This record gives sequence, C-alpha cells and structure tokens, in this order.
Amino acid sequence: MRIRRARITDAAAVDALLAHSHEAKPLPFHGKVTTRGLAPFLRGDWAFFIAEHGGAAVGFVLVQRRARLGYTRREAWLANMVVLETYRRRGIGRLLVDAAERQARRWGCGTIRLESRAHRTEAHAFYRALGFDDHGVSFEKVLEPGSPGRVRGS
Ligand SMILES: CC(C)(COP(=O)(O)OP(=O)(O)OC[C@H]1O[C@@H](n2cnc3c(N)ncnc32)[C@H](O)[C@@H]1OP(=O)(O)O)[C@@H](O)C(=O)NCCC(=O)NCCS
Repeated sequence: MRIRRARITDAAAVDALLAHSHEAKPLPFHGKVTTRGLAPFLRGDWAFFIAEHGGAAVGFVLVQRRARLGYTRREAWLANMVVLETYRRRGIGRLLVDAAERQARRWGCGTIRLESRAHRTEAHAFYRALGFDDHGVSFEKVLEPGSPGRVRGS
C-alpha cells in the first residue's frame, strides 16, 4: 500500500471510486470523471492523493487550499474522501488524511475542514477518531434550472 499523487491516467479509477462513494440516489448533476474533468484538480490550489494497493487505486482524498474572509491563514478544505469498501478499517483513510494534513501544513494553512452528509455516521466516527471536532451545520440547496431568485416586491 502506498499513497501517491494522482495522475491524469487515474481518471477512470477515480470515477469508479467516486461513484462508489456517492449516495444510492445520485444528484442530477453527478457526472463521470473524465481526463478533461480531472485535469483542473491536479494543479493550482488542489492536491489529489491516491491510495494504491497492488497497482490498483483503492481510495483517494482531494484537498483544496482556500482563503477565508477575515482569516489570517488559509484553510484546507477536504473536498472528497473515499476508500473502497473491501479495504476499509485497515488504516488507509487515516493515511490519506495524513497526506492531506501534511499538504495543508506545507501550504501554511491554519485549519483543515470538511462537510459531510448527516447520514454518514461512519464517516463522522472516522473524522472524530482522527482528531476533527464537530463544527457547525452544513446546508445545501439544489438549484433547479430556470428558477432565478427574486427580490420580494420587485
Ligand atoms: C470514511 C472512510 C473514508 C474511512 O476510511 P477507512 O480506510 O475505513 O478508515 P481507517 O481504517 O483509516 O479508520 C481510522 C479510524 O477511524 C475510525 N473509523 C473508521 N471507520 C469507522 C466506522 N465505520 N465506524 C466507527 N469508526 C470508524 C476508527 O477509529 C478507525 O480506527 P480503527 O479501525 O483502528 O478502530 C470510509 O469509510 C469511506 O470511504 N466511507 C464511504 C465514503 C465516505 O463516507 N466518505 C466521506 C465523505 S465525508
């Protein structure tokens, strides 16, 4: 088992892993990860780590550095995290988060943060075990096409 940087040739494996991590009912805008779609996440403010076992990708973590208004240091945002079901509880998730944290420190970030769907209680136990604190509540609204916002009275 090793943790390495993702490459453009990982697109198909990343697609399979991401689909594996999605809800039973995907959102309408969940799409396939192509090489073109993966490319922007391999550079700039992103760091993409793959857990590889016997030449196969069995997990990944994607982390982004971003600025926050009023913060003196940037934060690292853990955008995606998954380990293949048959490889769970072997410490691979921990190694991936370690890699993300090391990267966050190299970037000079002051915090590492993520959002997780409320029903992912196993993932919550995982993050708590790794020293993450519960913090805030996350909200999301799916934007239906063709329903622009309106100011009341206008
Ligand atoms: C969350 C996830 C990435 C954890 O990966 P993993 O490789 O199984 O995690 P690790 O083996 O490194 O676990 C480290 C510690 O976290 C805790 N932990 C991990 N999974 C847990 C679970 N299902 N229930 C309770 N605690 C858990 C344990 O303390 C574990 O240490 P231990 O096995 O020595 O007891 C994996 O379960 C997963 O991919 N889940 C589906 C996708 C998902 O929910 N992603 C996160 C979206 S926010």
